[in-house]
Amino acid sequence: MSITSSAERAAQVLSRPFTVGGLTVPNRIAMAPMTRMFSPGGVPNADVVAYYTRRAAAGVGLIITEGTYVDHPSAGLSDSVPRFYGEDALAGWAEVVQQVHLAGGRIAPQIWHVGVSRGRARRRTRRRPC
Ligand SMILES: Cc1cc2nc3c(=O)[nH]c(=O)nc-3n(C[C@H](O)[C@H](O)[C@H](O)COP(=O)(O)O)c2cc1C
Repeated sequence: MSITSSAERAAQVLSRPFTVGGLTVPNRIAMAPMTRMFSPGGVPNADVVAYYTRRAAAGVGLIITEGTYVDHPSAGLSDSVPRFYGEDALAGWAEVVQQVHLAGGRIAPQIWHVGVSRGRARRRTRRRPC
């Protein structure tokens, strides 16, 4: 098989939709979760909407978001990591989802509790455990 035909074959395979449970993804290009820390107060804003929408518009079929904190006091320490609870943060995510869908992509949140990593930060800052 020539380089051209194997590249064509790879492009064909990547462009096929797939279905998992009730979710149909338009192709096989997926984006791994990558922490950004661009959500002041834990609320995904217009910058976050634009960031994920650009990826979907560029052909990413399935986006897994950056880690998003669960509703627990020890989930994480950063105020810039988006939360996945609270009306303000969920309204921000709703806008992200709507725009990603309009751009043809699908998106799922990575739900995050930083665990041991938070323990190291706590020792450095001498904060009491929650
Ligand atoms: C800047 C950056 C931020 C990341 N943030 C997360 C994250 O929030 N959650 C997570 O599970 N993985 C995170 N990762 C790991 C990526 O999702 C991915 O697994 C990794 O980059 C894949 O690397 P590999 O192709 O070298 O295996 C991050 C990676 C990078 C480079």
